Parts: sequence; structure tokens; C-alpha cells
Amino acid sequence: MKDIVSLCKRRGFIFAASDIYGGLNGFWDYGPLGVELKNNLRDRWWKDMVITPPIGPDGSPIEILGVDSAIIQNPRCWEASGHVGGFCDPMVDCRESKKRYRADHVFVLVPKDGEGFSFAFDKDDEDDVIEKRLQKLAKGKKVEDFERTMLDQIDPAEFGEIIGPDVKNPGTLTEPRQFNMMFHTFVGATAGDENKAYLRPETCAGIFLNYKNVLDSNRAKVPFGIAQVGKAFRNEVTPRNFVFRSREFEQMELEWFCEEDEVPMWFDFWLEERTRFWESVGIPKSELHFLNVPKEDLAHYSSRTIDVEYRFPFSAPDFDELEGIAHRGCFDLTQHQEFSGTKLEYFDQANNRRFLPHVIEPSTGLTRGVLALICQAYTVDESRPSGVYLDFKPSMAPKKAAILPLTAKEDHVPTAQKLYMDLREDYNVDLDIKQNIGKRYARQDEIGTPFCFTIDNETSKDQSVTVRHRNTMEQERVSLDNVKAFMKEHISKA
Ligand code: GAP
Repeated sequence: MKDIVSLCKRRGFIFAASDIYGGLNGFWDYGPLGVELKNNLRDRWWKDMVITPPIGPDGSPIEILGVDSAIIQNPRCWEASGHVGGFCDPMVDCRESKKRYRADHVFVLVPKDGEGFSFAFDKDDEDDVIEKRLQKLAKGKKVEDFERTMLDQIDPAEFGEIIGPDVKNPGTLTEPRQFNMMFHTFVGATAGDENKAYLRPETCAGIFLNYKNVLDSNRAKVPFGIAQVGKAFRNEVTPRNFVFRSREFEQMELEWFCEEDEVPMWFDFWLEERTRFWESVGIPKSELHFLNVPKEDLAHYSSRTIDVEYRFPFSAPDFDELEGIAHRGCFDLTQHQEFSGTKLEYFDQANNRRFLPHVIEPSTGLTRGVLALICQAYTVDESRPSGVYLDFKPSMAPKKAAILPLTAKEDHVPTAQKLYMDLREDYNVDLDIKQNIGKRYARQDEIGTPFCFTIDNETSKDQSVTVRHRNTMEQERVSLDNVKAFMKEHISKA
């Protein structure tokens, strides 16, 4: 991860927010290449969901409509959704290190023989970190002499026997407290409770709030979907793993409204479609894992959730959540109907009956998806000067091609400029004139540009350029007239 984070900063994918002030934990800015990559992933999701949604199980196209709702909504909506009362994480403080942990993210090694202290670790701590710490503090005991359990499974009365993750003495961890993760603000000039409002912790609420508006204005028929992409905010106790768990992030969410007895069919449908999506943007199925979320870990609104997990470098060899596909039942519409006093039932004209549809929700993080694409693309190759290249699918790559005059003199440059002006009409391309050609290839490798077109001495003679393929470094000649056709063929098929 360290190498990936460093490349992201060096090449302008992702920066710490407020970098020049030392950053702000859990907040990130997307640089010139990061924003292109993010837009590519977002646009593909929107296209696959809203513009050309999949063909349904009965062979006809399904309908999904888009919305873009406000981040701040009437605060009553968060009471209805259960977020005011229950959107909490168990938080534990260390009185000595002043650090804060999520109790369900800390594991504890408890001595099997009951002798001596227990040791707490961050759930992402690697084996060598654990072993080193035990060597220093456990008086000869090894990992196998302990039993592993999560901190939130231990009675706080026994915390006095635990040495916290960042200290050497026992008894510094506080009892877990529930911490509500919603950011709040005040609407209007006065800062009283009556003006308190929340930044949305998930984008789906804006979909449920607009369900009736969309239904009435579009004559939509169940089954149908409403999709939204946008910012969400969670005051995470411990933001971690680069942009993986941030305090401000983006989500891409679909709420699929259907009849209750069709839930199993649609659930399977969406699981398959979403897997196909991730494969189509460059995440192979072999790097995905499907976790049937155990009953005790389900969100309050869900009766069944499958997490689509990706093998992130920090979780490897295991996986961590990339997307959740949840059966939300009719929880949200029921709650909003009750709290708002507005009838939200769907009228099924054909059968003359009213009902609240059930909801299947494929919900994924756009920014977490960007991280997965970067991690998947990161390929070490010692044989090339950059030592690494980003193996993005051409359709996802921030820059589709670079145009490189071999030298900054003669007629290489005007030809390169002409080709650049021509290609930039259709693609995001780079014109790079300075430095030796090896350095320029290295830079394009590091940012994942799939094709480099080089204008050289032969170009003026035969009106052709060299195209270099990023992954293989193989080169071939393409006539200047055919460059656009080459791009079209290679980018649309990937
Ligand atoms: N509406 C359902 C919902 O929000 P979730 O599992 O809490 O469910 C859905 O979030 C997705 O949003 C996750 O799978 C993840 O990709 C992304 N996500 C959640 N919290 C995040 C965070 N703190 N930082 C980045 N992405 C996050």
C-alpha cells in the first residue's frame, strides 16, 4: 500500500486533503488523473445502470431512473431511517496513547494458560508486527500460546488485563461507547437543536424520499429502479487504509423496487450483474469473494446481504468489502410513510391492489472502487525504467494515449501537435514533448496510459507512427490515417 499511496501522490491521482496544512484524517482530494479515473468508473456505472440497464430475466430491458438529491434533507428523515438512533460504532479510547479505536476492529490475544496479560492489536496488523510485539512484551510467550478474540466480545470488566495496541502497560483502554457517525450542521443563522441537520451518511435516503415523485412523474411500473451517485459523509472512528474508509466519500447506489415474491430472483439477478460489472472494469472474479453476511452482522434494515469483497493489498490474502447487495425489505418506505404521513404505496392497476414494494440494493463506494482499480492495476515490472506500470483497462485509463515526438526539433513536433489536436476531440490524450523518450514512456507507464504514439524520422517519409503497447512494450507501425481507427478499436473493446 505504501508504494501505491506514494505513486498516487507523485503522479497526481490522490492527495491528502489540506495537504499543505498537514492533511485532515479521513479526507482526500482527487488530482488531475484521479478525477478522470473516478469519472470513468462513475460514468460506466451510470451507463450500465441508467442509460442502458441490463436485460431482465424475462428477456426485456429493465427500467432504472436517475436522481441527484440534496445532501442535507429534513432531519426527520434520519429519524425514520434509524440513523439518528442507531448509526453508531463502538468506540474505545486509550487513556495513555490518546488513540481511539473501533472495538470491533481490535482483536485481543488472550493467554491460553490464564497467566499474564492479554495483548490488543489492530485487526490489520500483520504477523511480523504481532510477533515482534509479543517478543518484546509477552515474556517468552508466542502467538500459539494465545487465543484470539475480538475486543467487543470481552467483558469491559476485564479490560484491566489488556495491553492496548499502542502502549506497554495494561488497563488503559476505556469501556466501549456508542458513537453516532453522522456529521451534523445547522441550517440557518442560529445554532440551536431546532436547526440541527445532518450530512447524509448514505445516498440511498434521497432515493426513498423521491420514490413517490419519480413514480408519479415518470409513470414507472414495479419492478423498476432508481439510481444515484454522490457524496456521503461518516464520522468514522478510525478512518484507515488510504481512501478505503474515509469520512467523506462517494457512493453509487441502486434501489430496485420489486414485489416481495420476486425478491430471490432479483437478488440473484443483481448479484450476477454486479459481478459482471466489476469484471468489465478490470477486477477479475478470482480477486472477488462473496460473503453471505451472518445474521448478527446485518444492518438493521436488512434480512439478507451479500458483500462483494475484493482482495485489497491491506487485507490480502483475505478480502474486504467493495459492494453490498442487500434485501432491505419494505423497511425504508414503511418508515418514511409513517414519519412523513405521506402514502407511499404503489398502485398495481392490473390487479387493483396497493402495496409497498420490497427493495434490493446494490450499493458500492465509487471512491472505494477507484482504490480497487488502482490496486488491481498496480503491476511491478523490474525490467522497465519505471519499475511499475498501471494495467488499467483502456476504457478506465485516465489518459487513453500519449503523443510523443521523438525529439523536440525538426518536424516531429508539428506532426505530433497535429495528431494531438485531432485525437483530443474524442479522447483524453497527452502531448509530451520534453525529456528523453525512455523517461516519457516511464511516466506514461506509471499513470497507466495504454498507448504511446511516437513521431520519428520515418514519419515524414511514410506518414506512419510507432505505437507502443503499455503492458507488452511491443511496438508496431500504424499509418497516421489509421490512428483514430486504431484507438476506436482498442478502446471500445476494453
Ligand atoms: N445504503 C447502504 C450502505 O450505505 P454500506 O455498506 O454502509 O451500505 C455501501 O456502504 C458501500 O459504500 C460500501 O460497500 C463501501 O464501498 C462504501 N463505503 C461505506 N463506508 C465507506 C467509507 N467510510 N469510506 C469509503 N467508502 C465507504
